[in-house]
Amino acid sequence: MQDIIQELERRRAAARLGGGERRIAAQHAKGKLTARERLELLFDEGSFEEWDMFVEHDSHDFGMARQRIPGDGVVIGHGLVNGRRVFAFSQDFTVFGGSLSAAHARKICKVMDQAMKVGAPVVGLNDSGGARIQEGVASLAGYAEVFQRNVLASGVIPQVSLVMGPCAGGAVYSPAMTDFIFMVKDSSYMFVTGPEVVKTVTHEEVTQEELGGAVSHTGRSGVADLAFEDDVDALLRVREFLGFLPASNREPPPMRPTRDPADRPEPALDRLVPAHPNRPYDIHELISRVVDEGEFFELQPEFAGNIVTGFARFGGAPAGIVANQPAVLAGCLDIDSSRKAARFVRFCDCFHLPIVTFVDVPGFLPGTAQEYGGIIRHGAKLLFAYAEATVPKVTLITRKAYGGAYDVMSSKHLRGDVNYAWPSAEIAVMGPEGAVEIIFRADREDPDKMAARTDEYRTKFANPFVAGRLGFIDDVVAPRDTRRRLCGALAMLRGKRLENPWKKHDNIPL
Ligand code: HXC
Repeated sequence: MQDIIQELERRRAAARLGGGERRIAAQHAKGKLTARERLELLFDEGSFEEWDMFVEHDSHDFGMARQRIPGDGVVIGHGLVNGRRVFAFSQDFTVFGGSLSAAHARKICKVMDQAMKVGAPVVGLNDSGGARIQEGVASLAGYAEVFQRNVLASGVIPQVSLVMGPCAGGAVYSPAMTDFIFMVKDSSYMFVTGPEVVKTVTHEEVTQEELGGAVSHTGRSGVADLAFEDDVDALLRVREFLGFLPASNREPPPMRPTRDPADRPEPALDRLVPAHPNRPYDIHELISRVVDEGEFFELQPEFAGNIVTGFARFGGAPAGIVANQPAVLAGCLDIDSSRKAARFVRFCDCFHLPIVTFVDVPGFLPGTAQEYGGIIRHGAKLLFAYAEATVPKVTLITRKAYGGAYDVMSSKHLRGDVNYAWPSAEIAVMGPEGAVEIIFRADREDPDKMAARTDEYRTKFANPFVAGRLGFIDDVVAPRDTRRRLCGALAMLRGKRLENPWKKHDNIPL
């Protein structure tokens, strides 16, 4: 028995060494941790159980029969993150560049299948040179097996990708189909075709970092949700992030006890909205003052800043927040902000996360760039997402809610459960100046008359009371009482049940 145990330990030690000391040193020299070091940080100490440590590839071509490394470039298993079950795979760049063989793919599929049965999130740590070139189509088949599972798991268990090295070619599509993509600055990149191919085909000269680095994907493409400073920062933030998510669509989001009183007044909010309707203010100020302990986990902060999305807690219960940001493009809706918020709203709806919407929106961004870019279809995504969502929806209009954008932003008419407005709310088809230009065109040359008409329109519509009279606003709340009212509404809605008509699936305007 002792011999067998020694043999086991010898084999484990060999597997833990991955591609060997030299390649581990090279990985460290790039500022990156190894696959197993990463898992140690992701999971609660000592809780990770590794599976398939002894799996090897089964290819013989190109000298591969002589090169077998136990584990074959990916570490899989499960453990606890802050006491909650999570499954993970972590690609090991020190083993054949983390490239994906058929055996490697089977390992990823194994954790995904188990996570689906158990009902627990899957976190993928991506660090791979792509398809195992020596295996050809067997590797492509492996990718497709993973893709298929990503799709079937979508909306059933949360799937989080943390890209911590290369992720190129078709391999990008597995993270792309997960719920969130996080990247590490300066050491990760994602692209469908690399700089060399780009140069050959389009004659553009671009670096790896410019083409697919964390800054490009969090700022320009919107493909990634957040960029972290380094591996340690990334893994610790993912631990924090998982704390907002339920284990699966069969469970409610996790409660976290808080000492922050649900009825905490915030007198500073009475002064947040400037007297002049066109003066901006920072919506983060409102968010951080009303959520538990001021903690807001923002997603995509560098992309489409005119809408803010992220997670926070109210009275210990997680919720998704969507907020127009008056400090960027006056908070208008455009293509990017609509896409960003629509995807977020749909995630929340999949996983029982209530949606709190803060509205200060002057309308859709006008222009040829927007129309030619398809704002009609992209704007419809957000409208569709809110309208189909059956989770609790609480809305607060702080200032402007104009035109179609008023309808879109979780209005009463899209089954908003509780719709509040501050006294400063202006709910109308458009701003007073624009409205008067159209309906009193004949008086255009007379500035005094126009000013009087504008005042009249403002008095009539630039307030929450018309909408209040019609029951479209449930109550007008004092800014200082916002936290108390939001916490109260969300607590009341905890038992909400609402189902959409049966269908195979809907046809959201993609
Ligand atoms: C097999 C690979 C590999 C791969 C890297 N390696 N990529 N082995 N298949 N795809 C091996 C290298 O041979 C090397 O082995 C070790 O991993 C480290 O690679 P280096 O090149 O030394 O590292 P680095 O300089 O950091 O460059 C990393 C890299 C580069 C940029 C990822 O390795 C690279 O360009 N690899 C090929 C990428 C690629 O074209 N993949 C296929 C894409 S198509 P040794 O033994 O020397 O340590 C694809 C299709 C997916 O993925 C389709 C899904 C539908």
